[in-house]
Amino acid sequence: MADHPSFPAAPHIVRREDYRAPDWLVPDIALDFDLDAAITRVHATLSVTRNGDHDRPLKLDGDGLLPLEIHVDGQPLTPDQWSLDGGRLTIPLPGPAHLVKSFVEISPQSNSKLMGLYASGGLLCTQCEAEGFRRITFFPDRPDVLSRYSVRLAADKALYPVLLANGDPVEQGDLPDGRHWARWNDPYPKPCYLFALVAGDLACNADRFVTASGREVQLGIWVKEADLPRTAHAMQALKNSMAWDERVYGREYDLDVFNIVAVADFNFGAMENKGLNIFNSRYILADPETATDIDYDGVEGVVAHEYFHNWSGNRVTCRDWFQLSLKEGFTVFRDQNFSADMGSHAVKRIEDVRILRAAQFQEDSGPLAHPVRPESYMEISNFYTATIYNKGAELIRMMALMLGPERFRAGTDLYFDRHDGEAATCEDFVRAMEEGGEIDLSQFRRWYEQAGTPHVRALLSHDPATQGVTLLLEQSVPPTPGQPEKKPMAIPLRTALFDPESGQHRGDELLMLTEARQSFTFAGWPAAPILSINRGFSAPVIVETNRSQADLAFLSAHDDDPFARYEAMQQLMVNVLVGRIGGQPVDEDAVVAAIRGTAIDPLLDPAFIAEAIRLPSEAYLGDQMAVVDPDAIHAARDALQRRIGAELEPLWRDIHGKTKANAFALSPAAKGARKLRNTALLYLAASGAADGATVAFGQFSEADNMTERQAALATLANGTSAEREAALDIFYNRYRDDALTLDKWFQTQAFAFHPHTVDLVEELGRHKDFTLANPNRVRSLYGAFAGNQWAFHHKSGKGYRLVADCIIALDKLNPQTAARLVPPLGRWKRFDEARAALMRAELQRILAVPGLSKDVTEQASKSLE
Ligand code: ARG
Ligand code: ZN
Repeated sequence: MADHPSFPAAPHIVRREDYRAPDWLVPDIALDFDLDAAITRVHATLSVTRNGDHDRPLKLDGDGLLPLEIHVDGQPLTPDQWSLDGGRLTIPLPGPAHLVKSFVEISPQSNSKLMGLYASGGLLCTQCEAEGFRRITFFPDRPDVLSRYSVRLAADKALYPVLLANGDPVEQGDLPDGRHWARWNDPYPKPCYLFALVAGDLACNADRFVTASGREVQLGIWVKEADLPRTAHAMQALKNSMAWDERVYGREYDLDVFNIVAVADFNFGAMENKGLNIFNSRYILADPETATDIDYDGVEGVVAHEYFHNWSGNRVTCRDWFQLSLKEGFTVFRDQNFSADMGSHAVKRIEDVRILRAAQFQEDSGPLAHPVRPESYMEISNFYTATIYNKGAELIRMMALMLGPERFRAGTDLYFDRHDGEAATCEDFVRAMEEGGEIDLSQFRRWYEQAGTPHVRALLSHDPATQGVTLLLEQSVPPTPGQPEKKPMAIPLRTALFDPESGQHRGDELLMLTEARQSFTFAGWPAAPILSINRGFSAPVIVETNRSQADLAFLSAHDDDPFARYEAMQQLMVNVLVGRIGGQPVDEDAVVAAIRGTAIDPLLDPAFIAEAIRLPSEAYLGDQMAVVDPDAIHAARDALQRRIGAELEPLWRDIHGKTKANAFALSPAAKGARKLRNTALLYLAASGAADGATVAFGQFSEADNMTERQAALATLANGTSAEREAALDIFYNRYRDDALTLDKWFQTQAFAFHPHTVDLVEELGRHKDFTLANPNRVRSLYGAFAGNQWAFHHKSGKGYRLVADCIIALDKLNPQTAARLVPPLGRWKRFDEARAALMRAELQRILAVPGLSKDVTEQASKSLE
């Protein structure tokens, strides 16, 4: 982008307590775009009105913009009538209302940050959340300034035959010189972060949806012509989402058209711009040849997420960016429940908790920990985090659990009705839950204020004399940056006591832990029961119990809550692995027996079995240790995996042979069968059987779908067989021209448990198909690698250096994506001194780079504290 020399201001900290209502409102805006990849001309006409009684000037945000013309009420301003300071345009205005026009030029093709208006694969598109609109035109770029938009687009008709913007299309026509134009109107006032436009040569998968009240909506998914056959799943997901939001929340779509555009270069997953969602193509395109079942589920979940934002985000938006979780936490909760309804509730919950633990628990225990409603930021883009999204969703889930479905729905109805058309706060949401759901959430509000994952110790004791049982619960929230002391949280724990004789419990109770230390008593237990706690993962906490391995084995075979059953199995494995790493005697036979019992249980869903019998990840095992020892963790986990493979080899062979699908289907049953089959292949390959690589290569070659093909490739990539190289070559040659699928080739190698992964990643960084310009490619290689604990934490420190080199190079192009790679280096406190010193040295090297972005500066400097 023609970034005009504006001096980098000293890092400015924005604080929640400093919030003030806007001085000027902008009820209407007309935008006129003369589009061109090299130079786009933007004329903006803002009707501005003074907000309240004050004499402050109009201030409009700008980033890299130079005003070429400014008019107020039709009169051109002279340069002494305005000033530009740190990108911001200041215009003193005398009256209560004025018409302000500005004219700027921007260069989409030079915009490597992918924020604002940019070029991607011949298209022109926008990304404005959080603060990209100020890179397009001068405007009060804050979410509490809501405007009605009228947008005119003009462009070369051959290069850009399709012209899209928010809202409904109103008019279009041809212009001289092979150009054409289109006008779009969005009747719903919206903040500028929801503005969008797209121009390009796009084909459309067109469909329609009739709302509950009988209105017809035209649906369009716009992609490159060649990608049209890969849009069917996204379209089905969209229609399912529209029906689901009507049925579950009573919310209808509100415009005559709903468009989605897929673009190849995108910093995040997707964006909920009003009536014109723009997606990273990886969350739209799917076919059996190139997409795994996980990819299919990702498409469904993200299409739903962005669609649901139309109410939770667009109709009711955020007052300021500290309230980001108001829309993101709630919308994640909504998309999680939608996906559960489309497939399996049990498996979806397990997957979501796995993600929460892998991403959010790590964040919450490190230097970047922050509350769900943060108090301050340097760069808001750094706060699109697992805490805001996933922990935020858990907060909504806890409220929904405490209220029950009817009262929760009363609360959301009140929230939507009361705040429709407004910019609201997290507090507004909680108050709607309190009033609509008739509950007191005073203490619960601490979940928004206090960072850190609460720890709960649960000690069950039994007195045979009185036949009484006491459950003693103790909670503590660890200190986090800026929050040394914590108050007790309100923690809802779904609990059941199992009778070991009958294998049954006497009912599931919701216990509210509100004190630091609290006891619950239960009568009438002649024999000691077995504790099932935090069932369904009712609260996002770490629970420690005094349950024996025998208790866990019992629950892993009998608990009727699928999450608790999975959890018991995982804890059984964790105890054995952590014990083994610590040199303690452990009973691995119990793990083998539990896995066997689960794997052959005919009543269980194969998808559940596959989740339950997989060993906990290396990173999760690291979280259980005072000092993470990546080599010892890898060795112990690998040894246990080989033992499970070898001892149950016939079982793995049997499952692998038996679950072979005949023809590809996307049903939950077919997906579950593939998941279990791939797990069996993993164990079979680990068993040491002479034909392990042959079987994997056979699956790789014969698969009629990417789920099995990629799993086979990943299994081979962990080893050193000749088949490994052969499969990687075949895969590369087959998909070299398909960027999304080639990403898998990079990612599989970066994730591999291979002794030379760190060197392979270095080589792949120099591969001719590697580019820093495409965020998906960067994440496939360096993002995946930084999540491979054993490889990234190679004791040489080479892994740290590779990632730091990437951050430094990428920061010059795309600071937001560069900043996302910093957190893995910031976890140095969790490692031994030698590794910690190497990690800190890389953070210091990054911080020493002149002209470093504030995105990376914030993450790296906080990571050193
Ligand atoms: N609101 C988008 C979503 O649905 C994400 C936007 C990300 N923007 C950013 N600056 N990180 O989740
Ligand atoms: Zn979102």
